Amino acid sequence: MTYTAKFKVWRGDDEGGALQDFAVEVNEGEVVLDIVHRLQATEAPDLAVRWNCKAGKCGSCSAEINGKPRLMCMTRMNTFTEDETIAITPLRTFPVIRDLVTDVSYNYEKARMVPSFAPPADLEPGDYRMQQVDVERSQEFRKCIECFLCNNVCHAVRDHEENKTTFSGPRFLMRIAELDMHPLDTADRREVAVEDHGLGYCNITKCCTEVCPEHIHITDNALIPLKERVADRKYDPIFSVASLFRK
Ligand code: SF4
Ligand code: F3S
Ligand code: FES
Repeated sequence: MTYTAKFKVWRGDDEGGALQDFAVEVNEGEVVLDIVHRLQATEAPDLAVRWNCKAGKCGSCSAEINGKPRLMCMTRMNTFTEDETIAITPLRTFPVIRDLVTDVSYNYEKARMVPSFAPPADLEPGDYRMQQVDVERSQEFRKCIECFLCNNVCHAVRDHEENKTTFSGPRFLMRIAELDMHPLDTADRREVAVEDHGLGYCNITKCCTEVCPEHIHITDNALIPLKERVADRKYDPIFSVASLFRK
């Protein structure tokens, strides 16, 4: 079944822009990215959009559709009614480069700040066998496709540009939690999580979990346990006494 749908697509660059109206043909089974491609093939050949896999796996096609952060390639057109006007806008938290393409380098800068996995120096390959429960715990976090929808939606940076220097967002706090939960990791990630990545800014609103296209339980399985680990250390009597003697 084919029909014509009304779209508003944000066009512009880092100096400003506006929503532009389009009427576009929609066919059965199509997703929002199909419509953007049809626009490029017809009325707007210079419309800038980032995409790659069209299968929900590369994390490139993140945008806001009717104000909700989503992957364009995984948003079916039958999510909307035929008479609905569909607005496609760039991710709000990151600076616009052009049209639907934003500069997500904030995320890569934060990724670089996470100290890498640190197994014991004398561990030889094959010396250690991981328990299935530990494998499964980190496997959930490793489903991340780095679409940055979670970092885009978290109010701690979405509404507070000034927090970008001190808060790394749910994606990278989850990475720290993953490493902290690894049985072989020798680094103490808890101070880093608080001091360098702003764990305290997270007040567990769970918006990140709600938008994650991989359905990762970011808040319940990564952020809350990481907060608990930080609290355990802070209120651990042995650690508290030891910290008195630290320089
Ligand atoms: Fe995207 Fe989910 Fe990874 Fe966040 S945790 S970057 S929402 S896949
Ligand atoms: Fe932000 Fe997620 Fe915490 S949306 S406040 S990081 S639970
Ligand atoms: Fe790869 Fe959408 S194009 S996730």
